[in-house]
Amino acid sequence: MNPKCKIAVFASGSGSNFAAIEEACRSGTLNAEIVLMVTNKPEAYVVKRAAQAGIQVAAFPSSEYATRAAYEKDILKKLQEVGAEWLVLAGYMRLIGETLLTAYPSRIVNIHPSLLPSFPGKDAIEQAVEHGVKVTGVTVHLVDAGMDTGPILAQRAVDVIPDNVEKTAEAIHAVEHDLYKDTLNRLFHA
Ligand code: GAR
Repeated sequence: MNPKCKIAVFASGSGSNFAAIEEACRSGTLNAEIVLMVTNKPEAYVVKRAAQAGIQVAAFPSSEYATRAAYEKDILKKLQEVGAEWLVLAGYMRLIGETLLTAYPSRIVNIHPSLLPSFPGKDAIEQAVEHGVKVTGVTVHLVDAGMDTGPILAQRAVDVIPDNVEKTAEAIHAVEHDLYKDTLNRLFHA
């Protein structure tokens, strides 16, 4: 058995992907250990989920920093303290800057609820439903300086339920939780 990878999960929202990763680490279906949950939103529900799971939380409200470099420098210090080897973005709604990209080259992963390069950015599920596409999906990719760009590692298609964002989102999230775990396992132990 390979040694467990030490990962930091970055999240800004409800944290269903965080919860799926945490559960997979706990049950051993993902060979990794979450050493830190990083958020820019101390009030986000993901913070409660992390606390309940006994995962250390580091909250860095971005409004308190004058520059992205200063913000990321503080995050990096904490990541180094806990020995994080990979950064896993799970609904983290900020671009990653040069400080973290340089410290973790090809070691930052993101998940996005569309078949990139279609519908990058916020509200990808709403955009797909409003656009009237028949098929959307989920993408896992390595992170670069762009918004939801970077080399694609895995994609899975999901049928759009016409005019129904809620049901389409449900189907997407179920695929996300599964695809992220499988892709991370492959990536960490390639
Ligand atoms: C997920 O659908 C994730 O793919 C998306 O945010 C959601 C977070 O949900 N990420 C992006 O849109 C990145 N551009 P969660 O908080 O329940 O995990």
